[in-house]
Amino acid sequence: MSDYELPPLPYDYDALEPHISEQVLRWHHDTHHQGYVNGWNSAEETLAENREEGDFSDSPSAIRNVTHNGSGHILHDLFWQSMSPDGGDEPQGDLADRIEEDFDSYEAWKGEFESVASAAGGWALLVYDSFSNQLRNVVVDKHDQGALWGSHPILALDVWEHSYYHDYGPARGDFIDNFFEVVDWEEPSARYEQAVEQFE
Ligand SMILES: [Fe+2]
Repeated sequence: MSDYELPPLPYDYDALEPHISEQVLRWHHDTHHQGYVNGWNSAEETLAENREEGDFSDSPSAIRNVTHNGSGHILHDLFWQSMSPDGGDEPQGDLADRIEEDFDSYEAWKGEFESVASAAGGWALLVYDSFSNQLRNVVVDKHDQGALWGSHPILALDVWEHSYYHDYGPARGDFIDNFFEVVDWEEPSARYEQAVEQFE
């Protein structure tokens, strides 16, 4: 039986102030993210029970809950790791070279990513698309609508209202600007290298 757990934030709740408030991080991590972890565990339990009983009538809705809540857990985990109080720099090394190769320049990538973040109903993601062997920005609604099969998330920005509304109200653009003040490329770079090693 699966038993997913909520990892603690990799920094203190107030570590990203003034860009993201302590209050928002507490609600976002302890309530919203925890909810996706619980939802994933509960959907897996339903699936296991259904297999045991041989009754699959509500398995499709449980599988939808796995996709939704599982993606919610995976992306929040990446989001926390995509930021740090020491962030705010541009990417370096192989990932920086690849961004230039696939998007023409860092500025072009950033402009496209910001535009995605303004339009998404869930997440802006930078992904490594293993089918085409290239980086892409992806517009994700909820946690799982808009995914491209075979893509591996590298950088995640949560633009659900719970992510910014308390701090910025409807000014989502200000939140996106502030994300870039705390973005930390260390984990995204490691993920990129891992993905490329596996598929290139
Ligand atoms: Fe969120």
